[in-house]
Amino acid sequence: MSVNVGRRLKEAGIKWVEEDAENKDVYVPTDEMKEKAYFSDERIYAEANNNPEEFWAKQAKELIYWFDEWDADKVVNLEPPYFNWFVGNGTNLSYNCLDRHLEENRNKAAIIWEPEPEDEAHEVLTYMDIYREVNKFANVLKHLGVKKGSPVTIWMPMIPETAIAALACQRIGAWHSIVYTAFAPHAVRERMEDAGSKILITVDGFYRRGKIIELKKRIDEGEILEKVGAENCVVVRRANSEVGMKEGRDHYYDKLMKDAEAYCEPEVITSNDYGFLLYTSGTTGKPKAVMHSCGAYSVGVALTMKLVADLHPDDLFWSTADIGWITGHSYALYGPLLIGATVLWYEGAPDYPDVSRWWGIIEKYGVTIFYTAPTAIRALRAAGDEWIEGHDFSSLRLLASVGEPIDPDTWKWFFEKIGESRCPLVDTYWQTETGGILLSSLPGIGPFVPGVAGPALPGVRYDVLDANGEPVKQEESGYLVVKPPFIPSMLRGLYKNPEKYVEEYWSRYGTDTYFSGDGAIKTGMEIGGQTLIKVTGRIDDVMEVAGHRLGTAELEEVVQDLEEVVDVAVVGKQDAIKGEVPALFVVLEKGVEKSNEDMDREIVKAVRDKVGPVATPEVTYYVSDLPETESGKIIRRFLKGLVRNELLGDMTTARNPECLKELAEVTQYRGPQKIPGYTGTAHLGNE
Ligand code: WT7
Repeated sequence: MSVNVGRRLKEAGIKWVEEDAENKDVYVPTDEMKEKAYFSDERIYAEANNNPEEFWAKQAKELIYWFDEWDADKVVNLEPPYFNWFVGNGTNLSYNCLDRHLEENRNKAAIIWEPEPEDEAHEVLTYMDIYREVNKFANVLKHLGVKKGSPVTIWMPMIPETAIAALACQRIGAWHSIVYTAFAPHAVRERMEDAGSKILITVDGFYRRGKIIELKKRIDEGEILEKVGAENCVVVRRANSEVGMKEGRDHYYDKLMKDAEAYCEPEVITSNDYGFLLYTSGTTGKPKAVMHSCGAYSVGVALTMKLVADLHPDDLFWSTADIGWITGHSYALYGPLLIGATVLWYEGAPDYPDVSRWWGIIEKYGVTIFYTAPTAIRALRAAGDEWIEGHDFSSLRLLASVGEPIDPDTWKWFFEKIGESRCPLVDTYWQTETGGILLSSLPGIGPFVPGVAGPALPGVRYDVLDANGEPVKQEESGYLVVKPPFIPSMLRGLYKNPEKYVEEYWSRYGTDTYFSGDGAIKTGMEIGGQTLIKVTGRIDDVMEVAGHRLGTAELEEVVQDLEEVVDVAVVGKQDAIKGEVPALFVVLEKGVEKSNEDMDREIVKAVRDKVGPVATPEVTYYVSDLPETESGKIIRRFLKGLVRNELLGDMTTARNPECLKELAEVTQYRGPQKIPGYTGTAHLGNE
């Protein structure tokens, strides 16, 4: 099968059109790609933007099955900063992902699962398979006391039961809160406490880089279930590793499933209900729970699946993102199943047993659409082209990237080596908060410009504003914002934290302008009257480490808690593979006897225990003072400039600018700013 698909699609693709003075390559889709794509006429932008509500209403009717139609005159109810789409609707995500495909596609593969151990057989789950298991598990959850609106914490890897658990929550209207497996048990605890979750679904263990990661054991070692007063813990047996099971509280998934009833009526989820919670890092303190809707979220996800991923029912879609992140939710689970396509899930690491694993998977199953992150592409590219040689990529017809800006070098390598210079490569910009893709060129319309995300989706009003809220001119930079009526898939609020919701997104420019937190440039290029945007990255204190969002404040809290630490500041340092890595500046207590190496070990341990391995600091600089404002606020922009060898900016804003000399020394600053007293040779060589 894959051979035929490959041959047919080989014709599709994109062609190179021009190279302008700035050496920007611009690509457009070929006629074959246009023919295949759902959307290939740029007039869609004008049509949708003339009347966004009508556009979204039309899409909503086509893409989603509604038990209750919404009020015809209430497509969106705007009460900034709150809004509600398709008011009066009733729907269910599990019904839309499963039940409605049964009649025609009962036996079609929904999820193809590739376990990490190569000697273990892959599994194919049909729509009927998942439907059956989801119904049963929904009944299990009900028996355990889970109701509509109950938070259910899931700490699970990329295995089929994770999809089943999430869809079972959707079926009964419970809110899943899925925690990334590379976070620490402590992070599970924080999220369970914050949400008031009384149930955890996890696994005995799973495979990662040839090792078994024992999740339940780690939960027990941290006494997490006791600390949060959990009433139930469901344990899926994946690795058959030894686990402790507490009578009455801990249950094996397979045992519960044995006696579960076969059918569970899907709950009607309305426009006033929520669909799920997902914790994400912000600018201060602890992660907060983004609340998503059900129906409006599904519309955004299903539409982008067609618009941007051009997902057809005969495609095999692979999003490499983990289910613990929004990309995993929207594009590894709900999106593909809403469309009735087939999605690939892979349990393990990209470089196990060697760095050709992903390329082998694409070839083995005939993946047609491949969605991944720049950090992964950079890592696989750095390993050397010999790992891709001999692999057959002819099944691929579209590539997509997400998580951070993809630099033109990486873009070209991905495009040429994996996409064989014929697959469009779309750079999709979005956030946990937007639920689905916000900016991207469309595969059948283009253009595809390395380093440039593209315009917003049709029907989305967006802009780049300066500090005063004025739109910037073409080729100038500012902050990316979204204007009313926003997009249906956007967050509905932050759970139990309305103040923070307003502060993070609606305070910079007022409540009718959504502030993304990202810097952006208007490129001067247009499609369908819409300006293509280049996103430059976060302007707040949020880092993107290997595409994973981390708040500097979160790490600071953990390190600050150590006895020897007086003060700490964390900034993102550039990294060739991971994009950004955490760099720490630490002021130690006077007279600490431990060596810096011992302190390093302690700090790394604390971070790994409290936040998780994803947040492991790259480097810690021990210094005697940190630059502060008169009011005692640490000036992070100096620290960022130092580790990135960039300009620091006006140093007179600091109460104690003299400390910068020492900081420049420890960081071996080589940037353009002159720092009084600092005579680092590297700096002088740079002048
Ligand atoms: C932040 C959101 C959306 C799923 C993955 C991350 C950055 C994301 C791009 C892109 C430039 C990007 C932004 C954004 N980002 N995609 N294509 N180009 N930047 O979700 O953890 O909520 O992080 O990721 O800075 O604000 P997230």
